[in-house]
Amino acid sequence: MSEEFVRFCETSEIPSGAKKHAKINGTWVLVCNVKGRLLAVSAICSHQEKPLFTGRVRNCKISCPVHGARFDLETGEALDLPATKPIATYAVRVVGDWVEVKL
Ligand code: FES
Repeated sequence: MSEEFVRFCETSEIPSGAKKHAKINGTWVLVCNVKGRLLAVSAICSHQEKPLFTGRVRNCKISCPVHGARFDLETGEALDLPATKPIATYAVRVVGDWVEVKL
C-alpha cells in the first residue's frame, strides 16, 4: 500500500514555537514548529495512550502532561520513565501554504 503525504493544515496555523494536533486518516498527529523546523509525531503518549498534545515543548522534546515522560520530537524516543516505548514520528513537508504529513 502506498503512503502519500496528506494536507495537515496551513503553514500560518503553526508559527515558530506553536504546535497543532489533528486526526488524519484515523491517526492523531501532532506537528510542532521548533524554531522554524516542523516535526510531526503521534499526539498520543506511548504510556497509557493519554493525550500528549497538551504537553510542553522544550529543547526539541515534549513532556507528557499526565506522568511527565519526555519524548524526543526528532526520533520519538522515550527519554523518561514511566514511558519505555517510543512514539511514532512522521515525515512532514511544506508545499505552498500547506503543511503535509506522511503517515
Ligand atoms: S500517559 Fe504519558 S507518561 Fe503516562
